Amino acid sequence: MLCFRRCTTLLLAATCLLTTAVVSTERAVTCDDSHNVQRLSCGVGSVISVQAALYGRADDETCSEGQPQSQLSNTECSQDGTVDVLKRRCDGKKECEVITNIVHSSDPCSGTYKYLETNYTCFPAIHTVTCEHSVANLYCAVMGGNSCSIRASNSGVWRPCVGTYKYLEVSYVCVNVKWIKGLFDLE
Ligand SMILES: *[C@@H]1O[C@H](CO)[C@@H](O)[C@H](O)[C@H]1NC(C)=O
Repeated sequence: MLCFRRCTTLLLAATCLLTTAVVSTERAVTCDDSHNVQRLSCGVGSVISVQAALYGRADDETCSEGQPQSQLSNTECSQDGTVDVLKRRCDGKKECEVITNIVHSSDPCSGTYKYLETNYTCFPAIHTVTCEHSVANLYCAVMGGNSCSIRASNSGVWRPCVGTYKYLEVSYVCVNVKWIKGLFDLE
């Protein structure tokens, strides 16, 4: 699952452009038991864009069941960089599963019972997965049949995990280039 390439740059640009077209805002909370898995997912025709994530504790209610008060009283605990980990793992995917301890690189507040809370939106995008050595055809029907092809294979500087059978995962949106140029006042 670690070896793939995403058009994150395009995706980020698209996120800004498409804020008005956002389908839904979702929230996932997973209590920090050693092997709990947090699952983010988006419906057909949309992909994940992580907005915010907290690993720690910001109130004494969330994941409080059965925990002693002493483990709930610190409500200003958060692990730095959590949102970056979630974005790297999940942005541009239709669904994404993370074990809470992937963000647990060090303990931001020992003695406090923590949880992972992720806010994300599902926004409209075309999502493709192409097995290694095949060709991904990206196609925008509404833009007058524009298309491009990318071969999913090791090439140039992009040569991750030699010996592993890989796949290329691309999420993209079709936007009107004239409209973008106008928006950013480009030539
Ligand atoms: C997620 O959204 C909720 C509701 O708007 C908010 O209370 C919470 O603080 C957000 N979580 C993070 C990690 O920003």
